[in-house]
Order: sequence, then C-alpha cells, then structure tokens
Amino acid sequence: MNEELQALLEKIHRERGIDLRHYKENFIVRRVKVRLRALGATSYRRYMHLLDDDEYDRLLEAMTINLTSFFRDPDVFQAIRDVVLRPLILAKKRTTQPRLDIWSAGCASGEEAYSLAIMVHQLLGNHLPRWRVRILGTDIDAAKLEQARLGVYGAFSFRGTRWPFLERYFVQTNEGRAVIPEIKRMVQFRRHNMISATPPSRFDLILCRNVFIYLQREQQLVALHKFHKALKHGGFLVLGKSEILSANATPLFEIVVPKARIYRKKDTHSKLPLEATT
Ligand SMILES: C[S@@+](CC[C@H](N)C(=O)[O-])C[C@H]1O[C@@H](n2cnc3c(N)ncnc32)[C@H](O)[C@@H]1O
Repeated sequence: MNEELQALLEKIHRERGIDLRHYKENFIVRRVKVRLRALGATSYRRYMHLLDDDEYDRLLEAMTINLTSFFRDPDVFQAIRDVVLRPLILAKKRTTQPRLDIWSAGCASGEEAYSLAIMVHQLLGNHLPRWRVRILGTDIDAAKLEQARLGVYGAFSFRGTRWPFLERYFVQTNEGRAVIPEIKRMVQFRRHNMISATPPSRFDLILCRNVFIYLQREQQLVALHKFHKALKHGGFLVLGKSEILSANATPLFEIVVPKARIYRKKDTHSKLPLEATT
C-alpha cells in the first residue's frame, strides 16, 4: 500500500479509533480519492492536513461503511424468524431457564440489533419474562455505538421497512423515533473489533452482515474462526446478501438457506488453516 495512504489510515485510527487498515485497498483508494478531488488536494499528505472534524464526517460518510436500516433485507429477517428463531424457541421452551443469545457483529448504529430484539419480543410474546434474552451489538465505531445506545432514529433508518407492528415499538420524539424502553433493555452495545479481539461466547445466532465486503479475505477468515468459536453447538451465522463464505471456511460452517446467507456451525476438532484461498 502507498506509504502516504498508510499514514492517513494510521492517523484516522489514532484520532478516531476507526481501523480501516484491513479494508480492501481499492475500496479505500476509490472513496478517499472522491474526497481528495472535492477539496482539490493533490496528495494524501495534503489531504491529511485538511482533515478537520467536518472533513472527517464527510470522509467517513464517503466510505458509507456505516449504512444500515431496520429489518434490512426483509426476506433475510423472515428466514431468520422461520428457520432459526422459531425452531430454536420451540426446542428450548421446555427447559427450566430457556435462553437466547444473539450477537449483531458490526452493528453500526444499532438498527439490526433492535430489529432482532423486536422480532424476539414478537415471537416470545407473554412468555418473554421467563426467558433470558441477550442481544449484543458490537462495532469498532464508537460514535455509531453512541447513536445505537441513544436509540433514536430518523426516517432514513426505516427505508424499505414495511413491518406493520413497527409503530408499537417506537415513540415519536422531536429528534426522531425512539425505541421503547422494553426493547432497549433487551440489547447491549459494546465496542469490539471482530478481527483482533477475543470474541464474546456462547451464542445461538450471530449476524455479521455487510462487513465482510470491506475486509480482505485473510481478515474474513480470522473473523469466521472467531465466530465459529463464539457459537454454541449447532449455532447459526448470517452473512450479508452479497457475501459468501470463502472456500477455506467450509470445514467451519454448512449452508442452511443459500439466498439468505444463513449458515450453521459444523463441529470440528481439527485445527484449521488460517490462510485464505485466492
Ligand atoms: C455497513 S455496516 C453494517 C451494519 C449492519 N450489520 C447491516 O448489515 O445493516 C458495517 C459496520 O461494520 C463495522 N466494522 C468494520 N470493521 C469492523 C471490525 N473489524 N470489527 C467490528 N466492526 C467492524 C463498521 O464500523 C460498520 O459500522
């Protein structure tokens, strides 16, 4: 990678805690160049001197790495409900203390995690108090996590959402629609880097959608190994609709619903290679 670009990414990491160094180089170059052109900067070094608070916002916006919405890809959420959550609930409901553990990895401003909480709330209905439900949303972007914890959203977060019961789970405020406390209580948000940090553990379901598109193959595989470890026996993993499991990860997961990118953990006792195929 170009040394000046490397220095720019290190500055962003140092000053904003956002680590773009593992992202695909051509993706980064394309997006940063849009900002260079907009400011008339002729090199990454010059651009670095122009990187004030406003420009940081514009740069990160240009990366569009944080875009998300409630029930993004509704067909995927339907498949999660029918193929993952309903059977899990059925299998667990007779246990003395049933629990559901769900991780939204790369949750951005939290819409995905809250969507899952709403869905679980719908599915469990009056039985919810008997269950221990843990929904964890993690991201590396501290500013996005602050928005997630606040839980107040503008119309953009609801684009394409046609879920009639949505009105029930939000109250209109001057700042936007606020998630009701009952749903907020079901979700926790934490800063976490899925590539370098030790993963939290014992999940029934992990969603990591629209994150791998930005990551290099090697990093994807590192994350997949961590997810494999973090899942309970037979647990589920959901990737983004445009993301596929790399060939090296097939010993870790089997496909359950190809269109919705739903995978299931395979049990493996052997140590698997971490190198990615090309
Ligand atoms: C496009 S958003 C996806 C949001 C949501 N999962 C969805 O599909 O709507 C990608 C998110 O991944 C986060 N991300 C990127 N690399 C990460 C990493 N190494 N660890 C944790 N989060 C990461 C970004 O900060 C961003 O908020």
